[in-house]
Amino acid sequence: MRTDLPAVSLALLPTPLQALPRFSAWLAADVEIWIKRDDLTGLALGGNKLRKLSYLVADALQQQATDLVTTGAAQSNHCRQTAAAAARVGLGCHLVLRGQAGERPGGNVLLDRLLGAELHWAGSNDTGPAMARVVQSLQAEGRKPYAIPLGGSTPIGAAGYAYAWLEMSVQARERDLEFDAVVFATSSGGTQAGMSVGAGDQAWPGELHGISVDHKVPHLQQITGELTRATAALLDVPSPHPVIIHDDYLGAGYGMVGDPEREAIRGLARSEGILVDPVYTGRALAGLIDLARRGALHGRVLFWHTGGTPALFAYEHDLLHT
Ligand SMILES: Cc1ncc(COP(=O)(O)O)c(C=O)c1O
Repeated sequence: MRTDLPAVSLALLPTPLQALPRFSAWLAADVEIWIKRDDLTGLALGGNKLRKLSYLVADALQQQATDLVTTGAAQSNHCRQTAAAAARVGLGCHLVLRGQAGERPGGNVLLDRLLGAELHWAGSNDTGPAMARVVQSLQAEGRKPYAIPLGGSTPIGAAGYAYAWLEMSVQARERDLEFDAVVFATSSGGTQAGMSVGAGDQAWPGELHGISVDHKVPHLQQITGELTRATAALLDVPSPHPVIIHDDYLGAGYGMVGDPEREAIRGLARSEGILVDPVYTGRALAGLIDLARRGALHGRVLFWHTGGTPALFAYEHDLLHT
């Protein structure tokens, strides 16, 4: 794999790879669960996007950008990490958020504001046109905005997860570990594309399970197919690893917390003292729990924690009062 993409150092790496003996015992499904702690990437409470942003921000600096502009849901972890990355390298930051000011103002929205990002509320519409307007108005002021699409899911961003796979492979080899399956949350597809390229590069023999948090399988396959091909081409990897995508855990929709997420969040918190989030990793862990109980996972399974925990503080009602 080509490993020379320009990067800025944003994340604390390598993130820990840990066994979850008490969670595995709680689950009681004859699987040994491990966790990769990308919730601990550091900057402004961490998460998976710092790995992507390390390469995207390097590209922005190379292009002499003055501002980062990106978009997401109101409680977007990607937006919060972009705001932190911009602060770290001295760029301006504009976030185009779905929803209204004042709706769930805690969690990531609070952090976006503390980090100095300018927030643009787009209502319930597609945020694309609002993002284009922000880019145009910055250009009209003589600034040079660098637009990062939803989730930072471009080939340059996804490369961060191909490199993350190499990091995990080294840790596993050092400890003489082999994983039969890796389970993770998937949404805008960059994490998935990067892992698929990394696993393909290493000719890993296991199963990659992506738990969709918002899209049905055909839509996610459409998004990730092209992104995976382009990431593989960028990094010179001939055969990406196949990914089994699950859309059985969408519940009442994106960001809607149900009993499976509540069980997963409490199960891991009370057995290991580790927190997952209500939108992404809580849903992915609920998927892992169900797959393990149904006998669809076996042996040693790695749950790749992709962060998101600040959103817990915007979901108090859904987590405690239902
Ligand atoms: C905590 C968390 N996990 C997983 C994901 C999904 O990653 P991707 O958008 O690369 O599919 C996100 C994306 O926003 C996230 O915030």
